[in-house]
This record gives sequence, structure tokens and C-alpha cells, in this order.
Amino acid sequence: MQTSAWLDTLAFEAARLLDRPLTALAVDDPGRSRSLAWRVGPLYANYARQRIDGPAWQALLQIADGARWPQALQALVDGEPVNFTEQRAALHTALRGEIGNGPAARAAQQQALAARERIEALADALIASEVTDIVNVGIGGSDLGPRLAVDALRDHGAGRFRIHFLSNVDGHAAQHLLATLEPRRSAAVLVSKSFGTQETLLNGTLLRDWLGDPRHLYAVSANVERAAAFGVPAAQVLPMWDWVGGRYSLWSAVGFAIRLAIGADGFDRLHSGAAMIDRHALQTPLADNLVVRQALTSIWNRNALGYDSHAILPYDERLRLLPAYLQQLTMESLGKSVRRDGLPVGCGTVPVLWGGAGTDCQHSFFQALHQGTDTLPADLIGVVRPDHAHPDNHHALLANLLAQSEALANGSASDDPHRHYPGNRPHTLMLLDALTPESLGALLALHEHSVYLQSVLWQIDAFDQWGVELGKTIAGRLLPAVGDDSAALPSDPVTAELLGEIRRRR
Ligand code: F6P
Repeated sequence: MQTSAWLDTLAFEAARLLDRPLTALAVDDPGRSRSLAWRVGPLYANYARQRIDGPAWQALLQIADGARWPQALQALVDGEPVNFTEQRAALHTALRGEIGNGPAARAAQQQALAARERIEALADALIASEVTDIVNVGIGGSDLGPRLAVDALRDHGAGRFRIHFLSNVDGHAAQHLLATLEPRRSAAVLVSKSFGTQETLLNGTLLRDWLGDPRHLYAVSANVERAAAFGVPAAQVLPMWDWVGGRYSLWSAVGFAIRLAIGADGFDRLHSGAAMIDRHALQTPLADNLVVRQALTSIWNRNALGYDSHAILPYDERLRLLPAYLQQLTMESLGKSVRRDGLPVGCGTVPVLWGGAGTDCQHSFFQALHQGTDTLPADLIGVVRPDHAHPDNHHALLANLLAQSEALANGSASDDPHRHYPGNRPHTLMLLDALTPESLGALLALHEHSVYLQSVLWQIDAFDQWGVELGKTIAGRLLPAVGDDSAALPSDPVTAELLGEIRRRR
């Protein structure tokens, strides 16, 4: 499907709706608060406060059909090389269920099962040991997913271990963490698909030397040789594969820390929540498909209404790391401007994704959401049943969630321009019945598939990340000059000036 054709369709629909307030849409179609809501298991999403009406939805669904989204989802789970710049599959779905028919998918499922047995054996050995503290050393996809899940699911934790995360190459992070730990009671899990990431290798070296005992060293990597050469006992290296992208990998042994935090049953439940969304995505017609609605809403806000930012606003303290996790998932996957055929995409791709936990952020950036010059679309995410016994707090949290949604949509007129709320700020409202391993798995899988479907329409690769390589190469080139004041200054005049300033001041 030609990009210009679907962009024209969206422009036509948007022209009708750009000046149409959300309040008017609600009057036009009083049933939309119910008809534009979908539930899959514990996950409910309401799109009634998006500036999209019936004809626009129909147009969007036709665009999804024309872009062959159902076939694209099948290609993903079957193990076709959807990562086309690297000729690789992206089989994260094979890590959580028997979905997909191709030989690649079946082989991946077998590998995932075998790896799971090894995860369990190592987990059992750790549980039986005197280790109390686990340090997950990794960055990006080797950090954000496990960090989010461990933090979010602490109420479902087995409580056997304290789990820590060390990602930043900034030595303060390691120094502060190690000051709280004891080598004899600690184990480090070095998580790196490539086992070549500078931050992880430096922090891993620090941990290895501090622990002083290789028996306390574990690794998860697709490069088993490098992990072994680093000094991790071969029996303690869990596998990764090139058919899983880092930011899609928490379901694999990359989630070892999650398994240690919430137990085998909890880890299974996380997988089953994601697998439920996989089946829903594959088996549900476009119009009733939550993954499709989520992806189309993003396309609409970006390509029809032209918004270039999207806020993630979880109203649950335990989901405070969700914005950071989705930032990598979305911006590393969709931050591209060149199509499969090498031509420019021809429309805006990823918006700036950001956010924070409500109610805290109501007292920081919500002013801009309500009265700023730019419209900032958002997802507000609430949890119906809490895991604490403080109903007054929870009622206040939910009241704030509902209130903010209403205020953003409806605004409030005032003769005083400073006290006027324009409203008309589109957003989606999501509710989880409770924050459980299943519902978290479902929420993350929903976003994974939504990201992928957007990439299909834009004809970009959701599974590569060439954009991050240049900075790494330059850092490697600069490192000798940063470490040695007698080394020649770099050729770039600004870098040379800055490094000169650093040398004069240290
Ligand atoms: O620099 C980006 C990146 O490659 C991410 O895509 C990845 O999640 C992260 O680095 C960590 O990579 P690795 O797991 O190979 O250490």
C-alpha cells in the first residue's frame, strides 16, 4: 500500500475532526464510551476520549487491512525474517507459548523450553545457597524489562532474594550499590546478548573482582564463548539467541532476575498473560482486535493529527518504570526514517515517548498537559484492585485518574483566560483488574505487537537499532585520549576543546 494513499485518507478524515472537540464527539455518539472499549482478559482499554469517530475508525481499519497486518503478525510468530536489515526472525512469541507454525518457530519453542529447564536448575541451586542478594548487570533490553517486572511484581515476590540492577557505566552506581552488599552473600548475573557492551563489561569486571569467587558469577548471553572467556563457569551461562531482540527479551533467560524474584509460577503466569495477547492478536478480526486498535490510535495521533509526543501515565506506583521500559521498546524500535526499500518513510514515525507515575506527575508536568500550547496525547493506566489495605489511598488514586481524564477531555470554560481549560486533549484510558504477572505480561505484549504493527505500516524495521552504533564507535575512538592526558587531542575542534577543558580541570 502506497504511503501517500493512506496518508491522503487520513488527511481527509482528520480535516473533518481537527476542530471537532471531544465533547462534541461524545454528543454525536452517546454510546461511544462503551462501543470504543475493549477487554482482553484482565486488560481493558477505552478509546472514547481519542479524537476519532466512526468513519475515521473505518478508514483506519481499512488501512490496517491494506497493510496486511494480520499476515504480518503471522509472519512474526512463524519466524520469518521480519528483522530484514539483519535477516533475522523476532520470535519473542515463541518464548511464551506454542504459537507459530514455521520450522523456525517450532525450533525456537524447543530451545526456549530447554533454556527454561536450565533456568529452573540454576534458580534452585541459588535458592539452596547462602546468597541473599542478586545483582543484574546489564543495560537497555538487558535491564529495563527485568527491572520493570521485578519492581512492578514485588507484591507477588517469593521474597527469597533482594534483587538489584546495575546498568550505568557511571562508577557511582556500582560504588553505591556495592557499599550495601557482602560478596559472600551476593551473586552477579551478567546479562548481555552480545557480551560486548562496554557498560556491562566494565560493571561486570568490577563485580567479578569484588565477588572474588566465580561460583557467584552467572551470565545470560548469545555469545557463550565470550561469557566463558570472561570467567563465568560454563554451567552458569544461560542462552540467548539472535532470534530475540534485546528489548523483546524479558521472556527469555534475560528474565532470570524476574524468575528469582517471583518464583517459577509467577514467571509462568507472566508468560501466560503475554501468550493470551499473542493469541488474541493472531485470532481476532481487525475491528475487535485490541492490539490493532492500540496501534491504529498511535498511527492516527501521529500521522493524521500530527502529534509528535506521547505520554505514558501509570496510576500505580509499581508501574513507575513503565515509561522508561516503553521508551526503549517504542523509540528504539520505531525511531527510524528509512523504509525497507531504502527510501525515506515519507511521514512522521515515532513520537517522543515520555511519562511518569500519577499522582506525582500531576504536581509537575500536568500543568502543560492541561493548558500548554501543544496537545500531548497520553495513555492513562489504572489498576482496579490494589495489593494493599489502605482503601482511602486507593480511592483517592482512582478518583484522580478519572478526574484527570475528564479534565483533559472536557476542560472547563472560564471568562478568565488564565483559568480557562480548553480540554480536547486526546488520550486512552486503560485499566488492569489487578497488577498480576498475567496482567503485566498482557500489557507488555500489547505494546510489543502495537509497535510491530506500526512498523509494518511505515515499512521500517522494528527489530534493528543501527542508530545507536555511531556513538559507541566514537566513544571507543575517544577513550584512549580521555584516559591519557599525553595522548593527542581528537581532530574535531569542539571535542578537542571540551577534552582540553576536562584535562585542565581534573
Ligand atoms: O545499544 C543498544 C543495545 O544494543 C540495545 O538494543 C540492547 O538492549 C542493549 O544495547 C544491550 O545490549 P546487550 O544485551 O548486547 O548488552
